[in-house]
Amino acid sequence: MTPDELLAVARDSASQAVIPYSRFPVGAAVETRDGRVFGGCNIESASYGLTICAERVAIFSAKAAGADPIAIAVSCTRGNPSEPSSLTPCGACRQVMMDQMGPDAPCYIDGVGAFTVDDLLPLGFRLPPAISTFPQ
Ligand code: THU
Repeated sequence: MTPDELLAVARDSASQAVIPYSRFPVGAAVETRDGRVFGGCNIESASYGLTICAERVAIFSAKAAGADPIAIAVSCTRGNPSEPSSLTPCGACRQVMMDQMGPDAPCYIDGVGAFTVDDLLPLGFRLPPAISTFPQ
């Protein structure tokens, strides 16, 4: 799948956002090693801190289906293109990208550009292989 095709799925997924508090839709789309695509949207809670971002919904949906995420696209469809910080993934989602996709995985950000996870989270945390059984 091309970056533009993955971005199109991310944009489409934003239409499912559950956003009664922020009114700020976000969509994400993950491509997996076996060629599947999983969309995600942000889902907000009346207990605000339980809200989950679109990126984590997409990544966790792929993992829950037994798939291996290799690329992600993100679209903040009501962000402001003149303020890139309104279009880019939050820190928590960058860490989850690092955890589940590794530093070299591509992240396509709608209206901003193409990055690796390492670009977005320089010096990011990973458990050492001696402790983690997760593939590094
Ligand atoms: N949000 C995401 O879905 N992804 C991000 O990377 C940043 C923020 C959501 C959370 C909340 O529902 C809304 O955007 C406003 O913060």
